[in-house]
Amino acid sequence: MTCNILVGGAWGDEGKGKCITYLCDKDKPSIIARAGVGPNAGHSVEFNGERYGLRLTPAGFVNKEAKLLIGAGVLVDPEVFFYELEYLNKYNVDNRTFVDYRCSIIEKEHKDRDQGSDHLYKKIGSTGTGCGPSNSDRVMRTIKLAEEIDVLKDYVTNVPLETNQAIDDGEEVFIEGSQGFGLSLYYGTYPFVTSKDTTASTFAADVGVGPTKIDDVFIVFKSYITRVGEGPFSTEIEQKKAEDMGLEEYGTVTGRRRRVGLFDMDLAKEACMINGATQIALTCVDRLYPDCERTQDYSAISGETKRFIEEIENETGVPVTIISTGPDLKDTIDLREELM
Ligand code: GTP
Ligand code: IMP
Ligand code: MG
Repeated sequence: MTCNILVGGAWGDEGKGKCITYLCDKDKPSIIARAGVGPNAGHSVEFNGERYGLRLTPAGFVNKEAKLLIGAGVLVDPEVFFYELEYLNKYNVDNRTFVDYRCSIIEKEHKDRDQGSDHLYKKIGSTGTGCGPSNSDRVMRTIKLAEEIDVLKDYVTNVPLETNQAIDDGEEVFIEGSQGFGLSLYYGTYPFVTSKDTTASTFAADVGVGPTKIDDVFIVFKSYITRVGEGPFSTEIEQKKAEDMGLEEYGTVTGRRRRVGLFDMDLAKEACMINGATQIALTCVDRLYPDCERTQDYSAISGETKRFIEEIENETGVPVTIISTGPDLKDTIDLREELM
């Protein structure tokens, strides 16, 4: 049996979508379970020349054999859920995507409260997707659950039961986290964080898998850092410098321009520790070192790039096993076999 979790190592947008699709296409898990806050996330997937932006559906959908589950800890906005089922219909997601019957439901009122809040929307810079007010209502025990919603009746299941059964049957299960370490309600840059913890232990709990069942925790770092919304960012650089370095980015969900900064080793060390990371996936290496664009072979990358990778490994004590050199699945150097 193998059950792996993937987490973000900074403030989200580390390229988790790309890493998830790569790992799910390659390792062929039978269940891909989405953890994390909810539709505030925006995962990007590039596959066979097409680009998809996802907020709720597991980014591993490209693996057509896998069952796609959304854990009880994840907030479900039925509008987003049904939009994505339609959007991804050529991948047959409609008959293999299910939500836990205990998922909290985001309603229009939650989005209005989020977007109308000076504190959340203006000061914190929330995504306005209703996640904060919904998690607050869950804590107050007033929110509706998926099992109470008629439109979801054909899509509810018991996610922990399915997931644990698959693990016990020796199948492979992949848990995909969203957001990132710096956005954790407990360990991030409070109050400029999201409405829940965003580390591996919480992601396991989101889908109802206990800590003794987890094999590997993949942590995704981008070779530089981006942040959307407000809050401290110690390695931030000026917009002009980011542009000169070719590192401009815009958000998948909100379209907001992302703040850009340099790789933060202290943040990476803390994120590896608190997540119990066992492997690092390093993305966008090509954007920092253009000479390795789309390379699939470790020996072909420059000495400077290798030194950067080795420094991350030495400082964090965690091996870099996946190196992403472009947005497509194929643009990947996979060093996992060397660990075995
Ligand atoms: P969040 O859940 O918001 O954290 O999403 P995410 O981690 O999947 O990242 P997001 O899709 O928001 O942003 C990452 C961007 O970088 C996307 O446009 C990806 O297609 C792109 N990307 C991912 N990996 C690479 C890479 O190695 N090289 C390049 N050039 N682009 C990449
Ligand atoms: P909320 O989660 O919408 O309440 O937003 C709180 C903070 O988390 C804001 O700074 C958002 O920009 C940030 N945030 C939430 N989810 C993501 C994500 O998936 N990627 C990047 N930033 C996020
Ligand atoms: Mg994103």
